[in-house]
Amino acid sequence: MSGRVAGKRVLVTGAARGMGRSHAVRLAEEGADLILVDICASLPEIEYPLATTEDLDETARLVTELGRRAVSHVVDVRDGAALAAAVDDGVAELGGLDASVANAGVITGGTWDTTTSRQWRTVVDVNLIGTWNTCSAALPHLVEHGGSLINISSVAGLKGSPLHTPYTASKHGVVGMSRALANELAAVNVRVNTVHPTGVETGMRPDTLHGLLHEARADLGPIFQNALPIVMTEARDVSNAVLFLVSDESRHVTGLEFKVDAGVTLR
Ligand SMILES: NC(=O)c1ccc[n+]([C@@H]2O[C@H](COP(=O)([O-])OP(=O)(O)OC[C@H]3O[C@@H](n4cnc5c(N)ncnc54)[C@H](O)[C@@H]3O)[C@@H](O)[C@H]2O)c1
Repeated sequence: MSGRVAGKRVLVTGAARGMGRSHAVRLAEEGADLILVDICASLPEIEYPLATTEDLDETARLVTELGRRAVSHVVDVRDGAALAAAVDDGVAELGGLDASVANAGVITGGTWDTTTSRQWRTVVDVNLIGTWNTCSAALPHLVEHGGSLINISSVAGLKGSPLHTPYTASKHGVVGMSRALANELAAVNVRVNTVHPTGVETGMRPDTLHGLLHEARADLGPIFQNALPIVMTEARDVSNAVLFLVSDESRHVTGLEFKVDAGVTLR
């Protein structure tokens, strides 16, 4: 078997579409088998639709088309017990686990006086506690032989990105949690790293945020401007960072904040 992650078994949450699908496909191209998790339902606090079961099936199809195995589960990452059961089932089917990619995430847009406590709770619950749930579902399968936890943050996890404050806070939270886990788990050879993408064209479409940036708060636009002359990066560019962190090429890398940000955090 050849490939940069040949024979590795990897959990990806939010795998039905967007960057989650891209990570799954990129890892399968390099020889990994996948446990694919997604909520496959929309949430009332989130203004754009989330993925569907058809989307999750399509990701699984793309993985198997590459000759790799895929085990899919429809689970909400906010439900720690259900997530652990799904991961246990996937691990039993694939014969073990080597890495997890906590990628499921949601965003809301709003100013200080329009952001609601329901938005806060949903965004923190999915992005921060859901990432914790993903790490804790994966860890029982990693602590014996070592492994790699990859937690998807954002450039909003490194700078004060405005007009989506719960998102920015949750993505900073992912960094703190990952740093603490990296310290705690280094002794058992579990590496913990975060990935920080700049904007990528996906199904994550917070029109409220874009509206504010184009009209009432256009003054804040420069905060979102990349240094490299591109408006967005592509999912595959972020997947290449994830691939490196899953692979043994990064065997001595832990506690890294891996920016795939076209230089936006330099600004
Ligand atoms: N798109 C960007 O510009 C961008 C930039 C930086 C970071 N990110 C992060 O990248 C990750 C992937 O986002 P994307 O752009 O592909 O968005 P997306 O909305 O296309 O995909 C997110 C996926 O997560 C799933 N999901 C949402 N809530 C869930 C839950 N509670 N349980 C299980 N699955 C759930 C959705 O159904 C969807 O399939 C997110 O963590 C996001 O915050 C995105």
